[in-house]
Amino acid sequence: MTGASSGIGESFARRLAAEGTDLVIVARRAEQLERLAAELGDAHGVTVEVLAADLGAPVSRREVERRLADSSAPIDLLVNNAGFGTHGNFSELPADREDQEVQVNVVALQRLTSAALGPMLARGRGHVLNVSSIAALYPVPGSATYAATKAFICSFSDALHEELRGTGVVVTSALPGFTRTEFQERSDWTGQDRLPAGAWLSADRVAAESLDGVWAGRARVVSDRRYRLITSITAPIPPGMKRWLMGRSSGLTW
Ligand SMILES: NC(=O)c1ccc[n+]([C@@H]2O[C@H](COP(=O)([O-])OP(=O)(O)OC[C@H]3O[C@@H](n4cnc5c(N)ncnc54)[C@H](OP(=O)(O)O)[C@@H]3O)[C@@H](O)[C@H]2O)c1
Repeated sequence: MTGASSGIGESFARRLAAEGTDLVIVARRAEQLERLAAELGDAHGVTVEVLAADLGAPVSRREVERRLADSSAPIDLLVNNAGFGTHGNFSELPADREDQEVQVNVVALQRLTSAALGPMLARGRGHVLNVSSIAALYPVPGSATYAATKAFICSFSDALHEELRGTGVVVTSALPGFTRTEFQERSDWTGQDRLPAGAWLSADRVAAESLDGVWAGRARVVSDRRYRLITSITAPIPPGMKRWLMGRSSGLTW
């Protein structure tokens, strides 16, 4: 479980622990992870391993890859949830931060999936849940890199879902809409006030619906009926029209 130190990842960890699942939790903030591990261990009698790592740094990331590849302590479900967004005109955003966004949201997710699949295929079972966003479905002026990383995750996960059919290993992507977490503040997005209260999802709900989708073997999970309606109504819109519409409503980031 990556990105378990806050938000949706913490909700995933809480839900899985409550179901009696032992966990390996990953993020940079070791203190938060240690506190969560102690709490979940006490409350549910599960073992929670803490792996503090920066998924944007190749050396640190390799530790996580090694843990996933360790067949003596196999992982049944990999949740690639860690990620962040950036906001602003791409030409004005620091290139290094944009690069980190690709490293964490895309490269780490791809490498961790690669490390996990070997042991899962050898055992003939396993699940990978990759956290994308409904931003994957639209170009998002103002968050160009973020939306592109999330589009990568959907396309990558859909392809693996099909490649792995019949192997016992299933890859699912989750596409949450606006969810109240630390995400908005960390991405310097200030558009929260313009959103109606009803647009917001809770991290617990996103985690619960995404995990239900995993256990049902689904390829994609869009949380919440309203977001499922929006994504299906907008799906047939031609790309040029979608781009134009998003250009007119830019400033919103999932
Ligand atoms: N909130 C939304 O509206 C929304 C909507 C759609 C999709 N999502 C996606 O949901 C996922 C979780 O985000 P959230 O909303 O729960 O935000 P969040 O509260 O900011 O959580 C992000 C998590 O990712 C971890 N992380 C970030 N950079 C990392 C790095 N370099 N190395 C290791 N871990 C890193 C953070 O831990 P540390 O800082 O401790 O490292 C944190 O645990 C993200 O992939 C996000 O894109 C969010």
